[in-house]
Amino acid sequence: MMTVGPKRWIVASLGLLFLLSLIVVSYREIATERRPTERPRPVVAAADRVCVDCHGRVTPSIVHQWEDSRHATRGIGCAACHGAKQRDPDAFVHYGVRIAAIVSPLDCSRCHQREFREQTGSRHADALALMRENDGDVARFVGAEPLGCQGCHGARVIATGAGQLDPTTWPNGGIGRINPDGSKGSCSACHTRHDFSLALARAPEACAKCHQGDDHAPAMDVYQESKHGARFREMHDEMNLGSSTWIVGRDYYAAPTCATCHMSATPSQPVTHDVGTRLGWTLRPVVSVRQAGWEDKRDAMVDVCLQCHADQWVQNYFTQFDAFVEDYNGRFAMPARQIMEALRRKGALTPAPFDEPIEYTYFALWSQAGRRGRMGAAMMGPYFVQWRGAYEVARVFYSELLPEAERLRPGITAPFVTTGARVTRARRPAPAATLGERR
Ligand code: HEC
Ligand code: HEC
Ligand code: HEC
Ligand code: HEC
Ligand code: HEC
Ligand code: HEC
Ligand code: HEC
Ligand code: HEC
Repeated sequence: MMTVGPKRWIVASLGLLFLLSLIVVSYREIATERRPTERPRPVVAAADRVCVDCHGRVTPSIVHQWEDSRHATRGIGCAACHGAKQRDPDAFVHYGVRIAAIVSPLDCSRCHQREFREQTGSRHADALALMRENDGDVARFVGAEPLGCQGCHGARVIATGAGQLDPTTWPNGGIGRINPDGSKGSCSACHTRHDFSLALARAPEACAKCHQGDDHAPAMDVYQESKHGARFREMHDEMNLGSSTWIVGRDYYAAPTCATCHMSATPSQPVTHDVGTRLGWTLRPVVSVRQAGWEDKRDAMVDVCLQCHADQWVQNYFTQFDAFVEDYNGRFAMPARQIMEALRRKGALTPAPFDEPIEYTYFALWSQAGRRGRMGAAMMGPYFVQWRGAYEVARVFYSELLPEAERLRPGITAPFVTTGARVTRARRPAPAATLGERR
């Protein structure tokens, strides 16, 4: 029989052992959590040593962000991007080195030719020029530049010498910015400097700064409503956003983001920096028109959908979408445009845009409600299709535009207006391709 003494000792030392093991385990847990994610150390090239040392004090966050980037692990430092030639209009000598603050798409093209070519050929690069077309007149009347229109569309950046940039034109992160070296666009419109994180570029937030707001560019609003957006929010951690390759159906499958459908790779398509590559329509103008070569572009989009859906689901969805666009065009957009042209021809409107109420009515019809409805239909947002789209288009057309036009010139609307019945109906899909035979 054991005495109380040794028994107590055994219990006490067992307890102590248990406590010690707990401490060891929790210490190791903390250590692993604290250990930075496995990343090769930044490589600081000789030319960058002075920049990194001094900027580590004057702008420490920029240096930390750069250290987190893949560029840093590959030894691509401050001088590789900011280094400038004498003929660059924005160049200046900075602590003995000729640099420029702006790193334009042309600067990135030294190492990223393909992305540069695609981006420069896209409508993104022309967003400043195109702002002057279509609803562009609104810029001159209500535009709050440079922070408003140009914050998204881009400014023409003017270098005034010795590294000075005209403060009414820079900073600017617009997608169609015109740089002092003449190149168009800004790679950091989507890529965040200085980490240039792929995870962030692939997330819808990278596009949402500009593609947001249901009165002008409603893609993000629609996406948020859609089931795709809901799944992205809920399954964010399963999206594998930081992966080196990001092929839909292979590297991730939880949900598509903007990049998935418009830019990123599929098993048979590479990444593209021309966001127009997969679009069948252009949904922005008064009347939507098919893109040149639209069948191939549509096929490219369908190829994305087919990584997650079956052929009939996808083809039928596009049948519904095309019918919506045709109905909007035929029943509202074309008559509205004809009425406005007739009013102008007959001298009922001044030549200046946006100085008469009906011009705002017309704008609300096609640019706001009309764009909302069409984008809702393109990207699976039923609320934007119906209540913020089709219903608003019809309400503005029948209860505002027609009465206002009649007040200006009685009888002017009659030749253009049909009964109100649908002009186009959802057509039955073309005979389905043989099951199993993919387009
Ligand atoms: C001795 C400190 C020092 C060194 C070395 C240095 N910088 Fe700077 N840099 C600054 C300071 C301070 C500013 C803030 C602007 C100012 O007051 O001139 C600045 C500003 C800048 C800007 C912004 C210019 C603008 O117009 O907004 C860039 C880009 C830049 N530095 C890049 C570099 C690069 C690239 C190198 C290495 C080739 C470098 N710097 C070396 C201190 C330094
Ligand atoms: C991969 C290219 C790249 C590298 C590498 C790089 N930068 Fe930049 N940097 C940019 C871009 C792009 C901008 C934004 C310019 C614009 O929009 O006009 C920028 C802007 C800046 C600015 C001015 C904007 C601000 O926020 O004040 C400073 C300062 C700057 N960089 C410093 C540095 C320093 C220091 C390093 C090295 C640690 C560095 N950069 C490395 C691409 C780069
Ligand atoms: C001197 C060459 C050079 C310049 C200039 C340069 N890059 Fe890079 N960039 C690279 C290299 C090398 C890689 C790494 C490629 C790899 O490892 O697959 C890279 C990778 C990237 C990546 C992928 C990052 C990741 O996490 O995988 C992005 C995005 C990128 N660069 C954007 C830019 C942009 C935008 C500019 C201009 C502002 C720019 N780069 C300027 C050489 C350069
Ligand atoms: C409209 C937004 C957008 C703009 C503007 C943009 N990028 Fe990208 N970029 C992306 C997205 C999204 C990815 C990730 C694609 C993927 O891997 O799924 C990416 C990926 C990259 C990569 C990694 C390689 C690859 O193809 O996956 C490089 C390099 C790159 N971009 C360079 C650039 C350069 C250089 C510019 C300017 C000429 C630029 N990007 C402008 C959105 C953009
Ligand atoms: C929040 C960002 C943002 C602001 C601010 C903005 N736009 Fe836009 N704009 C866009 C986007 C994004 C598109 C593309 C259409 C879409 O996504 O719905 C667009 C499209 C356009 C188009 C159609 C271009 C075409 O190819 O048909 C014109 C014209 C236009 N905007 C003019 C303006 C004017 C003028 C202003 C200022 C009064 C302005 N925008 C302010 C983001 C913006
Ligand atoms: C800095 C603002 C900005 C950002 C960021 C941006 N866009 Fe755009 N985007 C625009 C503007 C402005 C237009 C209209 C261009 C025009 O005038 O035709 C546009 C047009 C488009 C178009 C229509 C292209 C065509 O050929 O008709 C698509 C698709 C698009 N953007 C997708 C994206 C995606 C996907 C992202 C994110 C990966 C993104 N955009 C990021 C501003 C932006
Ligand atoms: C599930 C795929 C999918 C997702 C996710 C998606 N889009 Fe789209 N998007 C489409 C399709 C399909 C169209 C219409 C294509 C056509 O015209 O044939 C479209 C059209 C557009 C247009 C209109 C271009 C024009 O003609 O004016 C813009 C802009 C756009 N998308 C931007 C975005 C942005 C920004 C996001 C993320 C917030 C996004 N898209 C998410 C599939 C998608
Ligand atoms: C990364 C996978 C993925 C891609 C790519 C994708 N989808 Fe989806 N889609 C889904 C998932 C997941 C759902 C939700 C399914 C459910 O209801 O559980 C969904 C739902 C839908 C719905 C039903 C929406 C609703 O409100 O019920 C439609 C329609 C649709 N997708 C069409 C498309 C089209 C068209 C494309 C290509 C332009 C596309 N999807 C691309 C994954 C994807």
